[in-house]
Amino acid sequence: MYKVVLKATTLAHDIVKKVVVDGDCVVDATLGNGNDTIFLNSLTPNGIVYSFEVQKHAVDKFRSLIEEKNLKNIEVIHDGHENMDKYIKTKVKAIMFNLGYLPGSDKTVTTKSDTTLKAVEKGLNILSPGGIMTIAAYIGHDEGEKEAEEVVKYVSQIDSKCYSIMKINFINRKNAPFLIVIEKNDNLREDI
Ligand SMILES: C[S@@+](CC[C@H](N)C(=O)[O-])C[C@H]1O[C@@H](n2cnc3c(N)ncnc32)[C@H](O)[C@@H]1O
Repeated sequence: MYKVVLKATTLAHDIVKKVVVDGDCVVDATLGNGNDTIFLNSLTPNGIVYSFEVQKHAVDKFRSLIEEKNLKNIEVIHDGHENMDKYIKTKVKAIMFNLGYLPGSDKTVTTKSDTTLKAVEKGLNILSPGGIMTIAAYIGHDEGEKEAEEVVKYVSQIDSKCYSIMKINFINRKNAPFLIVIEKNDNLREDI
């Protein structure tokens, strides 16, 4: 039996799974420990996963894991997601953001609204029609609260003719993470 788990990160996986097929190019905008990258790689083992991370120790740790597990078709990029247009020259089927800080690591290194918004904008430009962007946002810490508010404000004004956008949040839990899901409408031409 299919079980729905009401957790932002799990719901993001459930939704992304519906659209990504093997051979697709996809993006993990926030590598961290690599859980989303491994998930994306399992959906498209013959495609490519571009994974961005600003913390060198996380990049090095994940590169070692790639070798150890002999994973293929993952490009780990030690740079901010706000620079994704420098590295990705193709349309992508899915882009996952898991905002905030890396659990168990330096809590001061966290995603920030100005770079997150740049990355969301660039990501929407490279998303293929029918493609999905997910953004898991946390409001339990100061930077997270501001960032989450600005992301919601930014995506709320995006033209609904081009993108369908939902916010999935708990209505009976305070400070719980929420999920934004953006679908690029597939009646759009590839060059828009
Ligand atoms: C909540 S964690 C991601 C968890 C990850 N998806 C996983 O499965 O373990 C957020 C990560 O974003 C990274 N980060 C912060 N600013 C970034 C930026 N501008 N570009 C890319 N990654 C960034 C942090 O270093 C942190 O590792």
